[in-house]
Amino acid sequence: MNVKTYLVTGGLGFIGSNFIRHILTHQSHIGIVNLDKMTYAGNPVNLKEFEGHERYRFVKGDICDRDLVDDIFSRQKPAVVVNFAAESHVDRSIEDAAGFIKTDIEGVWNLLEKSRTYGLEKFIQISTDEVYGAITEGAADENYPLKPSNPYSASKAGGDRLAFSYFVTYGMPVIVTRASNNYGPFQYPEKLIPLFITNALEDRKLPVYGDGRQRRDWLHVVDHCEAIQYIIEKGAEGETYNIAGNCEKVNLDVTEMILDILKKPKDLISYVKDRPGHDRRYSLDANKLFALGWKPGRNFEEGLRETVEWYVKNDRWWRKIKSGEFREYYKKHYSWRLEDKE
Ligand code: NAD
Ligand code: TYD
Repeated sequence: MNVKTYLVTGGLGFIGSNFIRHILTHQSHIGIVNLDKMTYAGNPVNLKEFEGHERYRFVKGDICDRDLVDDIFSRQKPAVVVNFAAESHVDRSIEDAAGFIKTDIEGVWNLLEKSRTYGLEKFIQISTDEVYGAITEGAADENYPLKPSNPYSASKAGGDRLAFSYFVTYGMPVIVTRASNNYGPFQYPEKLIPLFITNALEDRKLPVYGDGRQRRDWLHVVDHCEAIQYIIEKGAEGETYNIAGNCEKVNLDVTEMILDILKKPKDLISYVKDRPGHDRRYSLDANKLFALGWKPGRNFEEGLRETVEWYVKNDRWWRKIKSGEFREYYKKHYSWRLEDKE
């Protein structure tokens, strides 16, 4: 059987590792080359079970490295690039945006340039619903104006439109996807859901920003991975697809659901200073993708319960992270995040 190669970047992170697991498990005709810089968010343990797998190869490196990416293209001849690699946390981008601009814009450019030189079947740029900025009413479809409001979303918007420009200018087979907030196993415990689950398990406070009434749409990471593969197979070149979980929730409600599942007291909730430039609400209209034939299959209540169970079972995974890089970074930048229960 002919094995088609996907170059997956950022495949040791949360969504990338779930995507690689999904592909290696369900698509026997696809081989993966995973290019990952192993930043604080890239964890080799996430894909440990695939070490030595005949259709999986790992390359440690930076998507901005021109020679390395050239070498990968010339040797591996990927048919598809799925670019997950990014600096991905809003709070870190507020602290220092340099790495965001480098990876989320320049890195995209480098991958596009090499793809243009060598040619390929599809280039998938993984963007985000955050490029639309806060949505006060209704939901953003793919033609909604981009109004990113923090350095993370602004640099993602740069990479998103740069990828599109390679379709318009050079006729490259680019597709952009914009997903809503993901949740599920292997998410670095600085994002809302894994931070709150693990803090609750440690009997630490859950730092809710501002009044906690902000709203996000939640998408299970496995639904997201299925949607990406569906788009690779069925999506049209030059198009952008929103990927939504169709499950909008107020942060405080998500917080209380986590505490209820873990049977922990509500007084673990601690209201802290709001994030600067905090987007009040994200909401996606994903009817274009639904019309193409894909819909999310997982129910949030069930998905959240399973996610909580995963963090309970895999406590060595997150305890190692939280006692290492996480602790050092947050001690320096947001020490209240490490606050203990009074
Ligand atoms: P993550 O932070 O968990 O993982 C990012 C991965 O990229 C890490 O493995 C890291 O080592 C790697 N990386 C970072 N810079 C790199 C570089 N220069 N070269 C090579 N590798 C590099 O992020 P995630 O949550 O898995 O998000 C993956 C992608 O999905 C990102 O592009 C993000 O913008 C997008 N996205 C995320 C969400 C979400 O809710 N997490 C929602 C929509 C879109
Ligand atoms: P986050 O997981 O950082 O994702 P994003 O900012 O990309 O949507 O945050 C999700 C929501 O939860 C967002 O409204 C900010 C809020 N939040 C808190 O209230 N406290 C926290 O400690 C974190 C990390 C997030």
